Amino acid sequence: MPITGLHVAGYRSIRSIYLDLKPVNVVLGANGTGKSNLYRSLYLLWSAAAGNLAGAIADEGGMPSILSAGSLRRPGQKSVTLSVDIDDLSYQIVIGLVPLSDRIGDELMGYFQKDPDIKIEKVNVDYRGKQISLMARKRGYISARNMDGRPIEYPLVVAHCESVLTGLREPHLFPDLSKLRSEILSWRFYHNFRTDFHSPLRRPQVPVFTPVLSHDGGDLASALATIAAVEGAAAINEAVSDAFPDSTIGFKADDDVLALTMKMPGLNRSFSALELSDGTLQYLCLIAALLSPRPASFLALNEPETSIHPSLYQAMARLIVQAGKKSQLWVTTHSEELARYIEKAAGVKAIELEKVNGATCVVGAKLSPESEEEDYDDDDRSDSSRAG
Ligand SMILES: Nc1ncnc2c1ncn2[C@@H]1O[C@H](COP(=O)(O)OP(=O)(O)OP(=O)(O)O)[C@@H](O)[C@H]1O
Ligand SMILES: [Mg+2]
Repeated sequence: MPITGLHVAGYRSIRSIYLDLKPVNVVLGANGTGKSNLYRSLYLLWSAAAGNLAGAIADEGGMPSILSAGSLRRPGQKSVTLSVDIDDLSYQIVIGLVPLSDRIGDELMGYFQKDPDIKIEKVNVDYRGKQISLMARKRGYISARNMDGRPIEYPLVVAHCESVLTGLREPHLFPDLSKLRSEILSWRFYHNFRTDFHSPLRRPQVPVFTPVLSHDGGDLASALATIAAVEGAAAINEAVSDAFPDSTIGFKADDDVLALTMKMPGLNRSFSALELSDGTLQYLCLIAALLSPRPASFLALNEPETSIHPSLYQAMARLIVQAGKKSQLWVTTHSEELARYIEKAAGVKAIELEKVNGATCVVGAKLSPESEEEDYDDDDRSDSSRAG
């Protein structure tokens, strides 16, 4: 199911942004304009469904670090709102700091003061233009529509930092919530393939059937060999030779391990992954991610042009647009050239970001007046009813 809309507010440089999403989305902007922040917002929604929201936020320095900082004229945000529309479903989560009463009242809970505290969580479905609530959580009370379509008090224990979607184990009890959860979990994210000299992707690997490349590209040889086995070697080598003319990749099996090789024109032998350049390996990772025989419903690439020479951008755009026929795509990039190639090949308009007074804005979009920006703060109220 496609993501049709994204709304982010209060997250780092993003004070409030609404985006309509298309089958192929290109987000273009200079350094520091907030491209990765938008990409991360989607990743946080995925982490919430996957049960690792607190871990993903801890990786970013904890809740105080991700709240939009204030300026000389305005206070900082107290909450982060993340919401997506997926077909006829909409999901929203509002997170903030653990209430002061919990932080000082309980020494052990005090350890978790950088956790996100979920203030509001909602799932709605659009029924003939009317929003019907499938789940609503506010200050610890959760109601959800069960398999009979009746709203009941949600029976499972949910901690302050856990999404209601996390604990769903029996899909038949809350079928709509389970459907939403599996949809979000099918999203795929790639940021930074590891191509340093010691990276596992440069070494021969025990081959494993790998229809989905791992986040860091560590199983590149297995992933490419899987595409070759399922789709045929020609499918990969077409993409390889589009970027590196007259070059082909191959595989060498030795002592139960599989090595990736590449044959390039003018050279009398194939090269192993250990001998390939960073940019070449980055590009091969993109091929493996984008030609996956098990396409994701939504695939996000953060700054895929890193280490790649502009002469390959046209081929990269073709590869991206080809993958866009099977998956909804999100690509952030610094490169105007790459963005224009994708725009032309996919017939879409790039979303261009700029920073205005420290806030990420979409070029050409109306700035939301500060008074309209939503925020949520329950710090001065005790919340003994919270679940978990
Ligand atoms: N808590 C915060 N409040 C406000 N702004 C923040 C906060 N945390 C980070 N930022 C700002 O977010 C910006 C970084 O955003 P992001 O990493 O998304 O940029 P980018 O467009 O991906 O840049 P690059 O092209 O360099 O990767 C920086 O300008 C930083 O000052
Ligand atoms: Mg970035």
